[in-house]
Formats: sequence, structure tokens, C-alpha cells
Amino acid sequence: MSRAGRVAVTIGPATAADLDAVDEISQHSFRTPWPRQTFADELTRPHAHLELARRGADVVGYVNYWVVTDEVHLLAIATHPDARRGGIGAALMTHLLDGARARGSRLVTLEVRSGNQAARALYRSVGFVEVATRRSYYGDDGDDAVIMTLELS
Ligand SMILES: CC(C)(COP(=O)(O)OP(=O)(O)OC[C@H]1O[C@@H](n2cnc3c(N)ncnc32)[C@H](O)[C@@H]1OP(=O)(O)O)[C@@H](O)C(=O)NCCC(=O)NCCS
Repeated sequence: MSRAGRVAVTIGPATAADLDAVDEISQHSFRTPWPRQTFADELTRPHAHLELARRGADVVGYVNYWVVTDEVHLLAIATHPDARRGGIGAALMTHLLDGARARGSRLVTLEVRSGNQAARALYRSVGFVEVATRRSYYGDDGDDAVIMTLELS
């Protein structure tokens, strides 16, 4: 569990008791939300991490990533719509990157919709660079995927 910097949230692993809150944020954050079961499955995968930002008893954000060999792949990050632009996304990313450095990871990768300017700005703000584009990658609206990476020294 870590205490995030400029926002009053604590960040730590999700449990099965948190899945309704994660699902609610997901439903309000994505055009094609994952089924709740996807998050339940993440709790059972040894390489998967589902971590929550909590403000008091309330879950206000989550980040989901996989650690595979010396790489980290970010699958999803979301802040509750009522809590956006308050530093929670940045706190979750900082937590992920601190953990990646602590375990000696070499590279963090992600893909993001080209039209998702908020997420692209968040990722750039913590040091990711855009390295490639996959044309018409997303089946629901044909948006491009932008591949972003962050090399850790
Ligand atoms: C992307 C998302 C997680 C950002 O969360 P957040 O808690 O609002 O982010 P923060 O307040 O920590 O913002 C950190 C930085 O990201 C950038 N940013 C965040 N939202 C932004 C927006 N709407 N427009 C432009 N820049 C934005 C800014 O650089 C910001 O720093 P600043 O506030 O000092 O300017 C949030 O918008 C979200 O949940 N979106 C829906 C889900 C999603 O698209 N996830 C990403 C793909 S998996």
C-alpha cells in the first residue's frame, strides 16, 4: 500500500470485495467496458495486477497491468468520472512506475486510442513516448491504436 503524493488517496491491491466498485468505474469510463468477470479473472492470474486508489472507503480509480519477464504492460487505467483532473490517474501511474523500477523492470508498454487525448496526455506527463500506430485497431469505431513505451533505467 502506498500513499500518493499530491492527492489524498491510498493505493493498493484489489480484492474480490472491490469488484463491484471497479466494474462501476469501468462502465462509466469506456465505450466498450470489459465484463466484470474479466476483472475477477485478473485477481487469479499470477502475472496480473489490479490496484485501486481509495479516498477513505471509496474506490476512486484503478490500474490494471501485467508483469511479464522484465516488461510491464498497462492494460487499463480509469478514474471515477466525479474525481477526474484531481491527480488520481497520475498517482496510479506513479505507483505503477515506482513498482516497476523496484522490481527491476526494463520497459513499460501500452496502447491507447488515438482519440483519447486525456490518456495520451497523462502518459506523456509521466514520460511515455509514442513509438508506433496500429491503423484501425479498435473494432468498435475503427480508431487507431497508438503504442507508447517508457524505458526504465
Ligand atoms: C485518463 C484518465 C485515467 C486520467 O485520470 P485523471 O485522474 O483525471 O488524471 P489526472 O488528474 O491525474 O491528470 C494527470 C495529467 O494527465 C493529463 N490529463 C488528464 N486528463 C486530461 C484531459 N481531460 N485533457 C488533457 N489532459 C489531461 C494532464 O496532463 C494532467 O495533468 P494536469 O492536471 O496537471 O494538467 C481519466 O480521464 C479516465 O479515467 N478516462 C477514461 C478511461 C480511459 O480512457 N483510460 C485510459 C485508457 S485505458
